[in-house]
Amino acid sequence: MTAARVEERLDALYAVGGGEGANRPALSEHEDAAHALAEGWMREAGLETGTDAIGNLYGRLPGRAPGLAEIWCGSHLDSVPRGGRFDGALGVVAALEAVSRLEPGTRTVTVVAFRDEEGWRFGDGFLGSRAVSGRLDTAALDNADHDGITVREALAAGGYPFTPGNGWLVPAPAAFLEAHIEQGPVLAGQDAALGIVTSIVGILELRVVFAGAAGHAGTTPMANRRDAALCAAAFQVRAAAAAREIADAVVTVGSAVVVEPGATNVIARRTTVRVDARAPDTERLAHLERAVSRAADEAAQAHGCDTHLDVTMRIDPVACDPVLRDVLGRAAAGAPSLPSGAGHDAQVLADVVPVGMVFVPSVGGISHDPSEHTRWRDCLNGANVLLGAALELAAADQSGLEGDNASSSRLAST
Ligand code: GLV
Ligand code: MN
Ligand code: MN
Repeated sequence: MTAARVEERLDALYAVGGGEGANRPALSEHEDAAHALAEGWMREAGLETGTDAIGNLYGRLPGRAPGLAEIWCGSHLDSVPRGGRFDGALGVVAALEAVSRLEPGTRTVTVVAFRDEEGWRFGDGFLGSRAVSGRLDTAALDNADHDGITVREALAAGGYPFTPGNGWLVPAPAAFLEAHIEQGPVLAGQDAALGIVTSIVGILELRVVFAGAAGHAGTTPMANRRDAALCAAAFQVRAAAAAREIADAVVTVGSAVVVEPGATNVIARRTTVRVDARAPDTERLAHLERAVSRAADEAAQAHGCDTHLDVTMRIDPVACDPVLRDVLGRAAAGAPSLPSGAGHDAQVLADVVPVGMVFVPSVGGISHDPSEHTRWRDCLNGANVLLGAALELAAADQSGLEGDNASSSRLAST
């Protein structure tokens, strides 16, 4: 393996959206362009390419036993705004490197690029991995971005014929492996080249609305106001304080609070706040949800407003599969284990498919920013671990792997 090709491909993906950093919003022309690049590289590697109804991309190296469920390796190609070069993209590029070096085994090995992992555009992420595994419901299609474009409209504009409710869009794999940058400081702090992921954080995406009363900014005395913007500010302070009381819980308001009607000289009649709330286990996530809801009620009460809270996405914390942890551990001898505080497509599939993740170190622990960096030799290490693990899993018959079925592949060939 050479670092040069990995670097070249990550640069090509990074350049896609223009501007500073990675800019590939979910279900946008820039995400499409990234998928088109990856599809070209899959073909170059001799893989059979295809897409499913929501636009997830697959590149298959057929195995000798087509009745056995596939081994999937991959990640996502969308990015946060002004994102880094490695988040998601490395998982796809590293999987391509690994699979392009495999000889066909017993099982088919497939490189996968999922749509919309990040979730920031519609407040409801993991669209690709939820859709392919039959867990994206109709309500999710009505979520809208800040311009009012719904998931349903974005899918129609992109030509993706997805409709919920028909189970898996393609046959379920036997296992999913994801290589990813750690996005935190643990591995770099231990000077470790690789890490094996034990568990992945639980995530709630919430939409909190405060309703007050509009009024004149100059003539309405402070005591007479029902200011929804003030509620939103008070809520953020209270929610952050509440999260600090729960070990390893975090709460973030990272996108603009929508203030209506939105004029400097009109008191806000309504505000909408999107909240990302995370905790490492189910109990703490439930505790955090109650604490955030209480913070909204208290903020509304303090300023004479009403409030309403919707959970737009709930992804449970999950454990990575012990068999796959061992397989990855054999390919990454001596690598420490660590939990993931970032969300990943692997956690969506974990309920129904064994998943394993390998992390490579993030310099300075920085991610979701153009300064995100991972040393090229560490990127190659990650690809090599995928190669070792995929080699072992592709050779496996039924033993230790679930999810086999005899149905023929429904990947549309492109
Ligand atoms: C994905 O990057 C997430 O953890 O939000
Ligand atoms: Mn990611
Ligand atoms: Mn990310």
